[in-house]
Amino acid sequence: LANGLGLTPPMGWNSWNHFHCKIDEKVIKATADALVSTGLSKLGYTYVNIDDCWAEISRDHEGNLAPNKATFPSGIKALADYVHSKGLKLGIYADAGYFTCSKTMPGSLGHEEQDAKTFAAWGIDYLKYDNCYNDESKPTVRFPVMTRALMKAGRPIFYSLCEWGEMHPATWGANVGNSWRTTGDISDTWESMVSRADMNEVYAEFARPGGWNDPDMLEVGNGGMTKNEYIVHFSMWAISKAPLLLGCNVGNITKETMEIIANKEVISVNQDPLGVQAKKVRLQGNREVWAGPLSGYRVALLLVNRSRKRVSFTAHWDDIGIPANSVVEARDLWEHKTLKARFVGNLTATLDSHACKMYVLKPVG
Ligand code: GLA
Repeated sequence: LANGLGLTPPMGWNSWNHFHCKIDEKVIKATADALVSTGLSKLGYTYVNIDDCWAEISRDHEGNLAPNKATFPSGIKALADYVHSKGLKLGIYADAGYFTCSKTMPGSLGHEEQDAKTFAAWGIDYLKYDNCYNDESKPTVRFPVMTRALMKAGRPIFYSLCEWGEMHPATWGANVGNSWRTTGDISDTWESMVSRADMNEVYAEFARPGGWNDPDMLEVGNGGMTKNEYIVHFSMWAISKAPLLLGCNVGNITKETMEIIANKEVISVNQDPLGVQAKKVRLQGNREVWAGPLSGYRVALLLVNRSRKRVSFTAHWDDIGIPANSVVEARDLWEHKTLKARFVGNLTATLDSHACKMYVLKPVG
């Protein structure tokens, strides 16, 4: 969407994956505090996004959305001021139907202009717009109504479409929003995670600065996968130019989780200004080669072992857009090492089960 936002994939946090409906202003503030104190905000994690369950079930006497009196007593404007004072941005959640998915708050269908104005007046920077309890008209009709409302609301608001990939939003989303979900909801398991990555990969050619494919939010740190599996999760999202929206409890984060989500080299692949989503370029059973171009004639390369065994496999320059006789320098983004060897034509690695290797390749001669 040409609102000047999302020139690289958005980074931040969203309340849903860890807290679901158990949110209040304390959790949101504590998360903002933690993003700053852990140093994550400096790495680019700046959106603090409130998901479902923040409003009263009824609109106020003027028909405005009203923050839940028990859980958000200070109101959203005060929360936005607090988040902004920390150098962060505040996101909110609404729905293109009669109710949101939790059915605990009203939808915005028929109230798009009024709600967009409310969000702008509160100082909202990001809107996730969901698709539950709608009137069964097409998302291609309902979601652009909110686009127009936001464009008129007088404040730049990142617009995230959440229609779960049903009407292939990658094919129409670029004029409607800044990102679009390509899948149903992720859960905190290896199978769910890799299947989101697969469904999202199909639409790679539609991603671009200002409009990104969204395979759903990160589960890293929520406990359902091994460390290596979370490294695969984070690497796949990064190379796919997916939004990097943390879904864990940042207020209570482990060293192990930090090691993954604070990897600057992997983040910079995601935030590369070229903005081209990587694709699977070679499948050998459960061994996958993902690659995509980066700025400066470099290439991001991800080798994923989806099997239960330790295996060796090879990425070929032919598959990843590097001339076959180029001499290439390889930086290992998880070992934080530039490999001593130079590579011509291919690179071979050995990977544990459910593990990956991620490199930036740079032709040097
Ligand atoms: C839908 C969305 C989720 C989350 C929930 C909230 O399922 O896809 O990401 O926002 O609604 O109820």
